[in-house]
Amino acid sequence: MKGTCFLNFIPTFLFLVSMAYSAMEVTNVTADQTALLALKAHLTDPHNILPNNWSTTASVCSWIGVTCGAQRDRVSGLNLSHMSLSGYIPSEIGNLSFLSFLSIRNNNFQGSLPNELARLLHLEYLDFGFNSFTGDIPPSLGSLPKLKSLLLEANFFLGNLPLSLWNISSLQTINISYNQLHGFMPSSIFSRSSLYTIDLSFNHLSGEIPADIFNHLPELRGIYFSRNRLSGSIPRTIGNCTLIEEINFSENNLTGEIKPNWPFLTYLVLISSIEFQ
Ligand SMILES: *[C@@H]1O[C@H](CO)[C@@H](O)[C@H](O)[C@H]1NC(C)=O
Ligand SMILES: *[C@@H]1O[C@H](CO)[C@@H](O)[C@H](O)[C@H]1NC(C)=O
Ligand SMILES: *[C@@H]1O[C@H](CO)[C@@H](O)[C@H](O)[C@H]1NC(C)=O
Ligand SMILES: *[C@@H]1O[C@H](CO)[C@@H](O)[C@H](O)[C@H]1NC(C)=O
Ligand SMILES: *[C@@H]1O[C@H](CO)[C@@H](O)[C@H](O)[C@H]1NC(C)=O
Ligand SMILES: *[C@@H]1O[C@H](CO)[C@@H](O)[C@H](O)[C@H]1NC(C)=O
Ligand SMILES: *[C@@H]1O[C@H](CO)[C@@H](O)[C@H](O)[C@H]1NC(C)=O
Ligand SMILES: *[C@@H]1O[C@H](CO)[C@@H](O)[C@H](O)[C@H]1NC(C)=O
Ligand SMILES: *[C@@H]1O[C@H](CO)[C@@H](O)[C@H](O)[C@H]1NC(C)=O
Repeated sequence: MKGTCFLNFIPTFLFLVSMAYSAMEVTNVTADQTALLALKAHLTDPHNILPNNWSTTASVCSWIGVTCGAQRDRVSGLNLSHMSLSGYIPSEIGNLSFLSFLSIRNNNFQGSLPNELARLLHLEYLDFGFNSFTGDIPPSLGSLPKLKSLLLEANFFLGNLPLSLWNISSLQTINISYNQLHGFMPSSIFSRSSLYTIDLSFNHLSGEIPADIFNHLPELRGIYFSRNRLSGSIPRTIGNCTLIEEINFSENNLTGEIKPNWPFLTYLVLISSIEFQ
């Protein structure tokens, strides 16, 4: 299997987390309603859509932006994107126990993300892009066992990229471009990852790209680290991520000698001092 990089996934840890949290799952749709009303109470809605529509005289399943699933008629989706909302995400969000889709893209949400997001064990899609969130990306997000898409681009997130994100074996897309991330990129120690694209462009990440990260990303198609402060040499192991289509490492201070095996590559932006062998 030359050219790909495998490591066995160890499910035990996530399984135990999952057990611990399911005991805390809240029991019926009334809890979903309480959680959504808490969210509404933390919002300013200049178009006055939610105050009129999110009314307790009707089922939450008829509320704008809310989708219910077959699963005991609980809330499974929340889409409040492009509504000019501002405000905060309250900790009660963690009580939407069956939520699998959550998008509040393109609003003006502020503050930091509550750790309770980590209780959304069915969450597959999280899109908080184009808001004004700040603070650290909670490392607890690494315990979301079904997360496939983590979209946090164009906010003011600070601090380090949490190591725990490498632990989400279901994750396919990470976009945290256009934020204020600092520090070194964590190396991936344990997990096999199904990551398809990772975009960390336009941050302040520094130090070297850890040599081991490409050993655990056999599915990688697109990698974008441009406009950071990365230095040192690009790990040679990137050469054997064979499915890669797009690479953009421009505007860093990287060097390297790479022996590529990239039959699907459509574009590549590295730096001038790369040598191909
Ligand atoms: C939901 O559960 C609470 C207690 O946890 C109970 O008081 C309430 O009646 C239940 N609501 C429905 C709609 O079953
Ligand atoms: C809320 O909006 C939905 C979708 O437009 C509509 O079907 C529902 O009747 C509205 N509910 C109320 C109470 O206005
Ligand atoms: C979410 O809402 C936005 C704006 O109304 C819409 O464009 C988008 O298609 C919705 N997404 C989903 C998955 O329904
Ligand atoms: C929901 O979440 C809040 C804060 O995380 C908590 O205090 C509350 O007890 C939870 N349960 C219900 C049923 O609202
Ligand atoms: C990642 O998962 C492993 C077990 O699979 C666990 O031991 C480790 O603490 C996790 N790392 C982080 C940073 O969450
Ligand atoms: C990440 O988000 C930015 C801003 O929306 C976008 O320009 C970029 O194409 C996204 N990256 C990927 C890999 O989709
Ligand atoms: C690569 O990233 C730079 C930002 O450093 C951007 O200007 C350029 O358009 C990107 N190249 C491609 C092919 O997307
Ligand atoms: C990946 O590439 C490195 C250096 O180019 C090589 O030594 C290593 O054996 C390769 N790993 C796999 C799993 O193919
Ligand atoms: C770029 O990296 C080289 C070493 O690889 C170092 O000598 C140089 O100072 C760095 N330049 C900048 C602008 O950081």
